[in-house]
Amino acid sequence: MAVRTIIEYPNPHLRNTSGPVTTFDDSLRELVADMFETMAAAEGIGLAAIQVDVPLQLIVVDVNEEEHPPVRLAAANPRIVLAEGKASIEEGCLSVPMSYRAAVQRYEHVVVEYQDENGADQTVDATGLAAICLQHEIDHLKGRLFIDHISSLKRGLYDKKLAKYNRYKKREEREQEMHR
Ligand code: NI
Repeated sequence: MAVRTIIEYPNPHLRNTSGPVTTFDDSLRELVADMFETMAAAEGIGLAAIQVDVPLQLIVVDVNEEEHPPVRLAAANPRIVLAEGKASIEEGCLSVPMSYRAAVQRYEHVVVEYQDENGADQTVDATGLAAICLQHEIDHLKGRLFIDHISSLKRGLYDKKLAKYNRYKKREEREQEMHR
């Protein structure tokens, strides 16, 4: 098991559409184990394979809320088969820098069909945070980020701030390089 590097926006790989998982072998199970470890190390509640630069339809989720039963799973080829109600919380993403958070409109309750790491068909019925997390992770498989759902005004402000932050980071790196 290993902690993998999480790629960050605006890395264009995050925009790729992930392909279906067709082989359920040891290397897939190793990827799942790595994703759980990477998510835990980053203190996240969900992670999609594309975030560790693997364009496969694979997500891991680990949500434990008091009001609802805990949801901890690895889901290959997840599909939302039922979605109802409305919910909105401030979301963040391990691939969206500066710990940016913003409220996104989601379904409150979803049922998701998927295959587990051994290829067996499974269904999860989730409400609340787990439902939101599943929708957020499934978005990643289509190359979509939560910041794509916010207003263009908010998004513009964020992009500007991030560009400034990245320029600053680059300058710091260059300076460190010069003093070596
Ligand atoms: Ni995310």
